[in-house]
Amino acid sequence: MKKFQKVLTALLSAVLLSTMLSGCGSGADAGKRIVRIGHNQATDHPTHIALLEFEAYVESKLGDKYNIEVYPSELLGSQTDMVQLTQTGAIDFCVASNSILETFSDNYTLFNMPYLFASSRAYHASMDDPNITDPIFESTKKAGFEAVTWIDAGTRNFYTVSTPIYSPADLKGLKIRVQQSPTNVEMMRLLGGSATPMGFGEVYTALQSKIIDGAENNEMALTSNGHGDVCKYYSYDMHQMIPDILIGNCAFLDDMPAEDRAVFEEGFLLVNQVEREEWTKAVEAAKEKAANDQGVEFIYLDTAPFQEICSPMHENVLGQYPDLRPFYEKIQEYNQLYPTDAVEGGSEE
Ligand code: GCU
Repeated sequence: MKKFQKVLTALLSAVLLSTMLSGCGSGADAGKRIVRIGHNQATDHPTHIALLEFEAYVESKLGDKYNIEVYPSELLGSQTDMVQLTQTGAIDFCVASNSILETFSDNYTLFNMPYLFASSRAYHASMDDPNITDPIFESTKKAGFEAVTWIDAGTRNFYTVSTPIYSPADLKGLKIRVQQSPTNVEMMRLLGGSATPMGFGEVYTALQSKIIDGAENNEMALTSNGHGDVCKYYSYDMHQMIPDILIGNCAFLDDMPAEDRAVFEEGFLLVNQVEREEWTKAVEAAKEKAANDQGVEFIYLDTAPFQEICSPMHENVLGQYPDLRPFYEKIQEYNQLYPTDAVEGGSEE
C-alpha cells in the first residue's frame, strides 16, 4: 500500500510539474506564477472559504504576478500525498492535520496529545503564541516545507454507527478510525478500542460498509462529510483539539521578493482569522443539521475517566521528546489562565 502511495505521489508530482511548466503562460494569465493550494475539505467548509479569501486578497495586491488556485476535496490527493507534493514543490501549499505532520516531524507530536488543552481558550492562546508555535512550525525547513499558519479544527470526539459511547468501557471491541499517527493509535489502545488508521477520504465508505464501527472528529465531519448519515451517536468526550496547519514549500516562499512575501504573510493571517470566524458559525450549523436532519444524538458525558486513562501519555511523549517540554510547560500556563471555556454570565465561548 505504501509503495502504491509512493508511485501515486510520484505520478501526481510528474503531472503537476508538467502542467505547471506549461500552464503559466496562456491568455490573460500569461507570465503569471500559478500558486497551487490543496486541501481535503468540501467547498462549504471554513477552510475552503478562508483559502478563497486568501486567493482574493493576494490577487487584489499581486494579481499581475500570481494566479492562486485552491483545490478542495482531495483533488490533489490525500493529506499525506499533498504534504509530499508540497515538500517537493510540485504544489506550493496544502492544509494538513497536525496529526499527519507528526509522521514528518516528531515535534508535531506535541499538539496531538489527548487532553493537552484545558479549554478552547487555552488552545487558541497557545496556538497564537509564536514562542510555542514558531520553533515547531520552522522545524521542517530542512525537509522542504514550513508551517505558515494554523487553522482551527475544533474538538475531536467519538461517534459511532450503533453503539453509543458513554464511558471508555463502551469502546471495547469497537473498530474506530483514527488519523494515521502513532499518538492516535496509542490513544485508542489505551482507551480500549481497536484503532483503524486510514485517510479521511476513505472514512465514509468504511463506515457505510461496516468495516469500522465509528470514528472520531469534530462535528463538521457529520455534515460536510456525511458521516452523520451513517453514525447516529456523537459523544462529547473531548479527547483532542488538533489544529490543521497550512504548510508551504520553502523554496517558493524564500525565493519570492520581500514585498511579495509581505503580502503572502498578510494573507496567511487572513486565512487564520476568516477560518476561525467561519468555524464558530459552521459548528453551530453542523450540530443543528446533524440533530434535526440526520437524526444524530449528541451525548454529553463525564470526560474524567477518558482523561485519566490518557494522562500517562503526556509524560511518555515528553520522555521520548524532551525538547518539547518547555512548550508543554508554556501550554500549562495557558491552561491555568483559562481552565474552562465558561465566561462571565455562564455562557460558553
Ligand atoms: C478534520 C481535519 C482534517 C483531517 C480530518 C481527519 O476534518 O480538519 O484536516 O484530515 O479531520 O480526521 O482526517
